[in-house]
Amino acid sequence: MHVPVHVLYATATGTAQDVAQQLAQQLVLREAQLVSLQAVDDYPIAKLLNHAASAHTFILIVSTCGDGHVPITMRNFWNFIRRSDLPAGILSELRFAIFGLGDRAYVKFNAAARKLCTRLIDLGASLITPLSLGDDSEEGGYDAQLFPWMDSVFDALVLRPPSANSSDEGNQSLLQLRYIDSRSDDRRSDSKWRAGEARRKPSAATFALHDSVLKRTEVLTNPDFLTDGKEVLHVELDVTDAHPETRLHTYEPGDIIHVVPRNSPSAVRAFFELTGLDGEAMIDVSVRETMRQFGDYHCNTGMPCTLRQFVSAQLDLTATPRRQFFKRLAPFAALGMEKEKLMHFASAGGTEDLNQYAYREKRTILLVLRDFPSARPPIETLIDMIPVLRPRAFSIASSANAHPGSVHICASLVKYQTPLRFLRVGVCSAFFKSLKKGDCVPIFLEQGTSLRFQTKRPAILIGPGTGVAPMRSYLSEGGSTTGPSILFFGCRSEKGDFLYRRDFELFLKRKTLTKLITAFSREDPSQKVYVQHRIEHNAEQTWKLVFEQGAYVYVAGAAGAMPKAIREVIVTLGKTVGQLSEASSEQFVKRMESEGRLQMECW
Ligand SMILES: Cc1cc2nc3c(=O)[nH]c(=O)nc-3n(C[C@H](O)[C@H](O)[C@H](O)COP(=O)(O)OP(=O)(O)OC[C@H]3O[C@@H](n4cnc5c(N)ncnc54)[C@H](O)[C@@H]3O)c2cc1C
Ligand SMILES: Cc1cc2nc3c(=O)[nH]c(=O)nc-3n(C[C@H](O)[C@H](O)[C@H](O)COP(=O)(O)O)c2cc1C
Repeated sequence: MHVPVHVLYATATGTAQDVAQQLAQQLVLREAQLVSLQAVDDYPIAKLLNHAASAHTFILIVSTCGDGHVPITMRNFWNFIRRSDLPAGILSELRFAIFGLGDRAYVKFNAAARKLCTRLIDLGASLITPLSLGDDSEEGGYDAQLFPWMDSVFDALVLRPPSANSSDEGNQSLLQLRYIDSRSDDRRSDSKWRAGEARRKPSAATFALHDSVLKRTEVLTNPDFLTDGKEVLHVELDVTDAHPETRLHTYEPGDIIHVVPRNSPSAVRAFFELTGLDGEAMIDVSVRETMRQFGDYHCNTGMPCTLRQFVSAQLDLTATPRRQFFKRLAPFAALGMEKEKLMHFASAGGTEDLNQYAYREKRTILLVLRDFPSARPPIETLIDMIPVLRPRAFSIASSANAHPGSVHICASLVKYQTPLRFLRVGVCSAFFKSLKKGDCVPIFLEQGTSLRFQTKRPAILIGPGTGVAPMRSYLSEGGSTTGPSILFFGCRSEKGDFLYRRDFELFLKRKTLTKLITAFSREDPSQKVYVQHRIEHNAEQTWKLVFEQGAYVYVAGAAGAMPKAIREVIVTLGKTVGQLSEASSEQFVKRMESEGRLQMECW
């Protein structure tokens, strides 16, 4: 008899949950005694302590979010185990494994998984296999680490490879699909189905879903002055009718809005053309009996709808297919050549070719279905293999006080040409572009944790590109009440993409904003100027504000080089202006971070 196993995940945007589900499916196939599959904070701590004492094994899939933070779905557990009054050996019976999800582009790579692992060991727990850390920046993403780590978990649990019987694809599915008689009373209108969908509560940190109404959109960029065709859209949503439970009337600067997009009609059409399925058939999707006992799933189950509704709202048709997708598709290929190629992509030896085919050449699930026409799993397997279409997060650009009944989004639209010369538009970007005034936009609020503005302190706001969104929200509220607010804004050119220029000029006039410092990266062909360079140019003033006046520094925008460069420039200011040694300046910045005086929200 195998030991009981619990798979728990801590996620901010759903990836850890996908990985946990994938692992749970593999455990079931290997006849492990899987007991639970849940978010960490949905699992009672007392139960965990009890089960640890009865030799249960816990497998944790943990992502890092914010600026090295623990995801909100593990915050309670984390706060409990980091308490200094816990007896040293309290977890001495606990056997565990951790897989971290992170991205080396961030300063604090996989900080949550690493600190959780260290703390559990400090409390006496023992690892059944070494900690493994997935990296989004790596080609192929976290798969490179995940597969060897999963194998090591199976070995540690002494699980046999799946038997020929259990490798039947149907058994692997979490979901099952039932066709319903189209004359059935179960038939629902789109709006009723959507109302049902609203019952889903995405996570403990988020509030109820609301069907907002599009008020207006405005293109904030001027194509005449930009060469790359990039577009930034201001989106205004009407939330006047929102129920108090949604908290959409009382959001704060730094809060996040999640938009629930739909696939573009052309992607949905392509799916039905490629699969030959009937989009108008009524279906009912539910979690398979054998998996239902373990927990909750990020999928709109138990509500009859048309297959087209389900595909358009629930399946990420343009996601990059991962190795697991090829592995599950291969058995269904009728043509030997296709089967062989799919199996090659799914194998460890095929990693380089998979990286070229899927990642470098930017293929989507739809393109794989096109390239392998003989591989057609039954629909109940297919819906289980295609990743769930996730809501997209946006830092709110408005103020609930200054813009009552409204939520503003500043969205940089994803549009690019793949190496194979396909034009690719992001799911939510295409959704925004398709909207007309009065259209319904399902959204829900998440209380932000990375940016928490302090009005009683001077503020240094650093928001290049769409990172200016939370800064606009904060300044619309009135900004700092006790000292200057300085905004460093960066974009490519003054005439091309100086987002919200009029608003910031108005804030300056009203003295909500003390100084606006801009960095236009493409205006001087001899050198690119970014916000970090402007901070250096204004070294004395910036350091004085930070060091002498205790200013808070807020940073938002695209991840990548910018957040690291900002941190480095503050350390440099400590040395050059503050005359601190390298070590003292680094120490000073670390203290700012731990006191919440240096906050970052980068995506
Ligand atoms: C907390 C948080 C706050 C955010 N706030 C904002 C905000 O205020 N404004 C904002 O615009 N976005 C913000 N985002 C990002 C936003 O959630 C979406 O990721 C973004 O809008 C793209 O969504 P999409 O569905 O249009 O693109 P998707 O369909 O998700 O496609 C995006 C993917 O396309 C690929 N890609 C994009 N560009 C290229 C390229 N040039 N070449 C090759 N591949 C490419 C990348 O793999 C990328 O992951 C935020 C994200 C988070 C997590
Ligand atoms: C807003 C944001 C902040 C992030 N911060 C970090 C970080 O500080 N360190 C890190 O290693 N990865 C960071 N990441 C990368 C995520 O951990 C990684 O994408 C992970 O796969 C997300 O898993 P999840 O969807 O389960 O939350 C961040 C991602 C986002 C979107």
